[in-house]
Amino acid sequence: MKKSFMVVATLVALGFVNVHAAEEGAALYKKCAVCHGAAGEKAALGKSKIIKDMSAAQITTALKGYKDGSYGTAQKALMKGQVASLNDAQISALASHISK
Ligand code: HEC
Repeated sequence: MKKSFMVVATLVALGFVNVHAAEEGAALYKKCAVCHGAAGEKAALGKSKIIKDMSAAQITTALKGYKDGSYGTAQKALMKGQVASLNDAQISALASHISK
């Protein structure tokens, strides 16, 4: 009895975390939509890849790389400014939101 309660409580807690991450990803993405399109369907400034076609792992690599300078091409300084203040949890929330 006690054990099944724990399982249910854990599932509820995990569900809440996931819902929260999805909302956070959508909220964080608002400022990105100006350049990348509402669903990541545009080549930003005619330069970037179509980010909705990238996997969550590729997006995470790109965003972390813009932060530390290890990723990007001609416009990478612009993207560094976009992601500089994001932490790892925010980056993964964004990556899962965009890749859906
Ligand atoms: C002012 C326009 C602008 C905004 C706002 C912007 N981006 Fe970008 N983004 C670009 C450009 C331009 C590139 C290509 C940069 C380069 O040369 O590497 C890019 C590249 C990317 C890439 C890698 C795509 C590739 O070509 O490899 C990802 C992922 C990305 N942006 C996500 C985001 C996210 C997430 C946000 C919001 C936090 C955001 N961008 C905000 C313009 C923008």
